[in-house]
Amino acid sequence: PPKQRLLVVANRLPVSAVRKGEDSWQLEISVGGLVSALLGVKEFDARWIGWAGVNVPDEIGQKALSTALAEKRCIPVFLDEDVVHQYYNGYCNNILWPLFHYLGLPQEDRLATTRSFQSQFDAYKMANQMFADVVNKHYEEGDVVWCHDYHLMFLPKFLKEHNSKMKVGWFLHTPFPSSEIHRMLPSRSELLRSVLAADLVGFHTYDYARHFESACIRILGLEGTPEGVEDQGKLTRVAAFPIGIDSDRFIRALELPQVQDHMKELKERFAGRKVMLGVDRLDMIKGIPQKILAFEEFLEENPEWRDKVVLLQIAVPTRTDVPEYQKLTSQVHEIVGRINGRFGTLTAVPIHHLDRSLDFHALCALYAVTDVALVTSLRDGMNLVSYEFVACQASKKGVLILSEFAGAAQSLGAGAILVNPWNITEVASSISYALNMPANEREKRHDHNFKHVTTHTSQEWAAMFVSELNDTIVEAQLRT
Ligand code: UDP
Ligand code: G6P
Repeated sequence: PPKQRLLVVANRLPVSAVRKGEDSWQLEISVGGLVSALLGVKEFDARWIGWAGVNVPDEIGQKALSTALAEKRCIPVFLDEDVVHQYYNGYCNNILWPLFHYLGLPQEDRLATTRSFQSQFDAYKMANQMFADVVNKHYEEGDVVWCHDYHLMFLPKFLKEHNSKMKVGWFLHTPFPSSEIHRMLPSRSELLRSVLAADLVGFHTYDYARHFESACIRILGLEGTPEGVEDQGKLTRVAAFPIGIDSDRFIRALELPQVQDHMKELKERFAGRKVMLGVDRLDMIKGIPQKILAFEEFLEENPEWRDKVVLLQIAVPTRTDVPEYQKLTSQVHEIVGRINGRFGTLTAVPIHHLDRSLDFHALCALYAVTDVALVTSLRDGMNLVSYEFVACQASKKGVLILSEFAGAAQSLGAGAILVNPWNITEVASSISYALNMPANEREKRHDHNFKHVTTHTSQEWAAMFVSELNDTIVEAQLRT
C-alpha cells in the first residue's frame, strides 16, 4: 500500500538556510530535539512545512530557496523581520517558552512586556495564519497534518476553520505547566481553545497531558473525560506519547572509521582523566550555571580529583536575539572563567566550554568516550541528549546524571542518578558517586536504559501518534 502522506508543520525546518549569493543557498541541519526526533521518522510519505531561519525579502531569493528546500522535501514559510521579532523572539521565546518551563514571565521590564504583549500576540496569530495558508496550499485530501510545538497553537483552529474535514494533530515538545502557571497568560483561553480544534493533542508525559486537561477544565469550564476534553459533545482526544530517538543511527555511526578515529583522538587527548559531558543549547532551561557550580563544589571538596577529571560542555548558541539568552551567555562565560582560573594549571583546565555546535559524527564520538553525562535541566519536555548518550554507551557503560525535571526522568529514572538541579550540593555528591561507581552497578543501570532507548524509538512514537489520530477520527465519525 502507498505510504500515508504526512504534512509535518513546525516553526523550525530540519534544515536552516544560509545565503551564499543572490540565488544560492547553503542548507545546514538545524539543532534541537524536535528536528532530531522527526528526522528519524521514515515510514511516512512526509513533507515539512516551516521557517528556514532566515529573512528572504526578495523574490529571486525566495524562489531559489524554495527550489533548494524542495530537494529535502521541505516547503518554506517566509516570515519578515518584524514578524520574526514579535512572533519568534517575542511571543514564542520570551513569553511562552519561559512560562511553559516554570520560569515565569520576563522579570525585567515587566511593564514594558505587559504593554507589548498585545502586539506580540497579534504577530503570533498572524504568523500562525501564514503557516496555515501554506498548509492549505499543499494539502491533499487524506493527508494527515501534524502540527508541532508552542509556536503553532493557533494552527489547528485556523486549519479546521478552512476545512473541517482535515485530519489535524498537535504535539507539544515542551512541558505543559500546571494550570496555575498557564492562567497567568493574558491569552490563556484563546490559546487553549485553538489547540482544542485539533482531533488529537499529544504530550511527552502523562503529567503534561493532565495539566493541559485541568487547564481546560478550570480556565474554560469544559468537561474532562478519560479520553480527553469535551466541549458541547465535541471530543478532543488528549494523550501522552513519549518521544524517542533513532537509536540505530547512533549505534551504526560508532562503527564508522571517521568516528572511531575521532574517539581515539579524544581518548589520547584526555588520557588519565575521566570525561564528564554536557550537551545543551545555551538555554536557561538547561541549568548550565547550576551544573557548572555543582562541578566547582565537587572539585572544591575532592582535591584528589582535580587533575583527574574534565568537564566538556557543548553549549550551542540559540535564540541569540532574545535578551535573556544574551545575559545567560555572559553569565556562563564568567563562571567558567572563574572556575578555570581557580583550578586550572599551566597545562590543563577543568572545564572546556564550547560555544558552538558539533556535527553528528563528532557528537557520537564524544558521547561514546564519556564517563559521566550531566543533564541538569530546570525543566525540559523530554531531553533527547540523555537518550543519545545512552545509545552510544554500549561498550563503556558510563553513568547518566539526570534532572528529575526532565521528561526523560520518567523513562530513564531507574538507570540514571536523578538529581534536583537546584540542589548544588546534591549534584556535587552525585558526581562523586558516579565517578566512583563500581562496574557492575554501572552495567546494570546502563542495560536498563539501553533497553528503553532502543525499543522506544522516534519511529515508533510517530507511528503511534498517527495511528491514534486516524482511530480518533474514525471513532468520532461513528459517534455522529
Ligand atoms: N545537537 C546537535 N548538535 C550539537 C548539539 C546538540 O545536533 O552540537 C542535538 C542533539 O543531538 C539533540 C538535540 O540537539 O538531538 C537537543 O535535543 P534535546 O531534546 O536534548 O533538547 P532541545 O534542544 O530540544 O531543548
Ligand atoms: C526545542 C523546541 C523546538 C525548537 C528547538 C530549537 O526543542 O521544542 O521547537 O525547534 O528547541 O530551538 P529554535 O528556537 O532554534 O527552533
